Amino acid sequence: MDNTYSDTVLTPMRVARTTGYIDWSSQPSLFKQYPHFLFRYAYGSNEALKRVELARFISSRSTVGSKPYYRMNVPSAGNLHPTELYVQIRGVKGVLSGIYHVDALHEELVLVREIEGDGLEPALGLGKKFNGMIFVVSCVPYRSEWKYGDRVVRYCYMDAGHQVGGLCTSAIADGHTPTILSQFDRASFDSQMGFGDEEYSTAVIAFGKESEKGVEAMCSALMRVAPTDYCDTSGVIPAQLAGEAIFSAADAPTLFTVDEDVIRKRRSARNFAPETLPTPHFEHFMHSLLQPPNPLSCFAIVLKSETVARGLYRDDRLLKEGDFAEISAALLVDQRFVKDAAVIIVMTAERYGSSALMSAGLFAQQLYLDATSRGVGFTGIGAFYDRKLQRFLETEMPIIYVGALGVERK
Ligand SMILES: Cc1cc2nc3c(=O)[nH]c(=O)nc-3n(C[C@H](O)[C@H](O)[C@H](O)COP(=O)(O)O)c2cc1C
Repeated sequence: MDNTYSDTVLTPMRVARTTGYIDWSSQPSLFKQYPHFLFRYAYGSNEALKRVELARFISSRSTVGSKPYYRMNVPSAGNLHPTELYVQIRGVKGVLSGIYHVDALHEELVLVREIEGDGLEPALGLGKKFNGMIFVVSCVPYRSEWKYGDRVVRYCYMDAGHQVGGLCTSAIADGHTPTILSQFDRASFDSQMGFGDEEYSTAVIAFGKESEKGVEAMCSALMRVAPTDYCDTSGVIPAQLAGEAIFSAADAPTLFTVDEDVIRKRRSARNFAPETLPTPHFEHFMHSLLQPPNPLSCFAIVLKSETVARGLYRDDRLLKEGDFAEISAALLVDQRFVKDAAVIIVMTAERYGSSALMSAGLFAQQLYLDATSRGVGFTGIGAFYDRKLQRFLETEMPIIYVGALGVERK
């Protein structure tokens, strides 16, 4: 995937070429819909399903230019949400064992296939029945490609990482540690899921326990349902996604426990007040940046602070001192509002790739919730001039993701 980094860097020329008029009436549909005759559980109808419901839901519904405008518990580049979520549930009291699509639009879990002696386990490299929940995060690239062209390969994986973060965020302490499943053939798993060339699995995360009982492979794939109402791709991006590996990480993601209220309130900061962060919050976040998930490492551009000098930091060390507010906004494709943020967080990795992008999304999801719970603002930033930012940081490492943190204007 290293070539994808070079091929998709943003330059002023490229931004000028790709930012033009968008006909929003041609936006592909945002939510996959399985047929109405399938059995479903409405959100809120079964307490055992709360973990699933809190992992993906619409948290704000409004209308913009006579079109419905939905925002979700997870953020998304351009609010285009090129992700879907499925869950296999087995052995959970009061719930029919089966493979479900999580339909956030209608707030329902749609039973795509009931399971008993069979299930997804063999296609995921598991020999025994897995009691609990196995989540599958997929990506539907055309929803983003429609607007962003080939940089969407990055956005798809960052968004998928946010969705993984959404799963690992729990308002319910059920004692289960998430396990990342990655030892299986992704292409054949996708065909078992009924995905065509418009949808690709990106991550499989299990909560629960393998049992002693054997399990059979499903005798046929799940029904195929198109994830968008139309697709007009050139085929380049689907081909790239088809060749990508599933999410794998050296460490299991940490289960991040926050109040349900915080999960429901998360929003991207849009308007920072020109103020410093209260010192305990500033110190807390600077400390969090010392321990991002593998394989990430973080730079911090401190734009304002009560306790330390303004400047560029890495691992607590001041690399260069100065007021970098103007230059930060310029490096982030002239997004002027970031000038008033307190800290710009830049996530880098030794190697660019889908797993690094997803780890960054997962970490950013935690930063979003952490910021929300402390009453401060955070936003993910996927638009930056990659090479210029690398030069500013004086690093050869690819830039994976950026975030802006600060006090929000009331
Ligand atoms: C991968 C990614 C990249 C993003 N890039 C930017 C960005 O460059 N600038 C920005 O202002 N917001 C950015 N956002 C925030 C989205 O615009 C925001 O999530 C979306 O509009 C939905 O709003 P919400 O997060 O409040 O639900 C990004 C979000 C994600 C997940």
